[in-house]
Amino acid sequence: MCEQNEKKKVLSCIQPSGMLTLGNYLGALKNWVYMQNEFDCTFAVADLHAITVRQEPSKLRSQIYSTYALMLALGLDPNKSTLFIQSQVPEHSALSWILSCNTQFGEMARMTQFKDKSAKHADNINVGLFSYPVLMAADILLYKPDFVPVGADQKQHLEIARDIAERFNRIYGDVFTVPEAYIPKTGARVMSLQDPEKKMSKSDENANSWVAILDDRDTVIRKFKRAVTDSGSGIYLSDDKKGISNLMTIYGAVTGKSYDEITKEFEGKGYGDFKLAVGETVADELAPIKANYDKIISDKAELERLFREGAEKAEKVARKTYFKAMKKVGFLL
Ligand code: TRP
Repeated sequence: MCEQNEKKKVLSCIQPSGMLTLGNYLGALKNWVYMQNEFDCTFAVADLHAITVRQEPSKLRSQIYSTYALMLALGLDPNKSTLFIQSQVPEHSALSWILSCNTQFGEMARMTQFKDKSAKHADNINVGLFSYPVLMAADILLYKPDFVPVGADQKQHLEIARDIAERFNRIYGDVFTVPEAYIPKTGARVMSLQDPEKKMSKSDENANSWVAILDDRDTVIRKFKRAVTDSGSGIYLSDDKKGISNLMTIYGAVTGKSYDEITKEFEGKGYGDFKLAVGETVADELAPIKANYDKIISDKAELERLFREGAEKAEKVARKTYFKAMKKVGFLL
């Protein structure tokens, strides 16, 4: 028996949003790299999802390239995992239609992300923005994963994917695996460096509040030096030390050290020393990723070869599931 087939399957996707942040890295992507040794993994750039908000085509194109290149630069290995670009596997859109016809308007209407996003993009509340979770369900169900690693903001969408799968199986017969959410052991929720009550986000107006995975060393260290702390002293986890607690989370996620270990390590040290240490540690972690990225992005031909190969590999799996769903619904093959 081929060992590969006995591993549990994992699927996740990331939107090509341009600047991926330290929050994306420590909250999700770093775990993908760990997972690829333990699981049979499929990871995609969710470019179809990106156009639910208006995109400039040339910018979108370069962001899809750079997100795929970044996945490789992080250490995701096309020989271990399937790495592809969503729009290159047409079964995603196709299955999404079948699933749409088996999803209720009311189910979609209560999705909190839709409510938030339609408030934010009031001039473009398109039908795709509304049915986005159905496309996400298709992404997932095509690959029959056991686990789907998602952040808190995507949990509701995963729940809907499970509901859609269960309902489809009940009506038409068994086609889909009902996946579980995967909560990583070391997943970190990284907050803004300027306002630790808010999640770190690249759409934050204050550029000092977030670190990009591809920021250079000096920028990373400068942003950490400027990180907001409170007026007290001592490096320990506390509700009235949200800034320091966030820095401890980041430091812990990079080094693997526990909060207690961090407190001990910095006993007697000031906030300035701690901020510098966190900045340097993060910069050291990101430097090789940036170096890999610069190499990978400069060889477009190789990049294209890899994502086409990835799409072919993905489509072999996706097509099987899609054909099965087609047959069950009554379509002809
Ligand atoms: N919607 C997810 C996000 O915005 C990205 C995504 C698309 C996804 N398809 C998925 C995540 C399938 C997990 C599984 O972050």
